[in-house]
Amino acid sequence: MDGNGRWAQARGLRRADGHRAGAETIRPVMERCGQHGVEVLTLFGFSTENWGRPHTEVQSILKLGRDFIDTHLDELDAAGVQLRHLGDLDRLPGFLRGRVARAVERTRDNSKLILNLAFNYGGRADIVEAVQSLIRDGVAAEDVTEEAITARLATAGLPEPDLLIRTGGETRISNFLVWQAAYAEYYFTDALWPDFDAGEVDAALIEFSRRQRRFGLVPNGDDEESLPAESGS
Ligand code: IPE
Ligand code: MG
Repeated sequence: MDGNGRWAQARGLRRADGHRAGAETIRPVMERCGQHGVEVLTLFGFSTENWGRPHTEVQSILKLGRDFIDTHLDELDAAGVQLRHLGDLDRLPGFLRGRVARAVERTRDNSKLILNLAFNYGGRADIVEAVQSLIRDGVAAEDVTEEAITARLATAGLPEPDLLIRTGGETRISNFLVWQAAYAEYYFTDALWPDFDAGEVDAALIEFSRRQRRFGLVPNGDDEESLPAESGS
């Protein structure tokens, strides 16, 4: 969810105002995704690298996380949304950690839409922790398979992402779901996150529907060996 700062700057507002506007974008985007039948939506709200931002900005983002839960939890729960958290909960301040844990617990049996909040998340750390947990459990080297690692990532049990959207005009993934998104379709848009509305969701999904996904295979399973041999020399 990139572009909050630039959105604010363009309006002569503070970066914190941009983050607030960005938080307000979440609800309508979620609703539109639900209308389109999206089953899992993952929002990258705060990366492990974001701790390096000025203290006041970090605080404003953490408080927005708290406010988002306080404002929306009842409504999300009633709508059948299952909240999950991706990332390191322990390093988050108590006021956020407790709320996230309770929200996850309260909504665990909901099944209409899974909403992953990637908050204090880093893709490489996710992989490292998965491998560490295999080692801790004494898993033999030959049993360290792709499936075994996948099963211990923060996204364990969830399907791989089909579509990865980055707003704000940057064309990189910045350590987001680096393992899980190996075969995702990428969609980059100049729209700043606070401007990413239902119409932008539609545009991303229309573009996605036009992509041909081959997962490293050839289209239609064509077998060149079975093509007629070229005549002449
Ligand atoms: C939001 O956008 C990303 C978060 C860390 C919440 P930015 O804060 O990166 O906005 P820009 O890139 O400065 O516009
Ligand atoms: Mg940015």
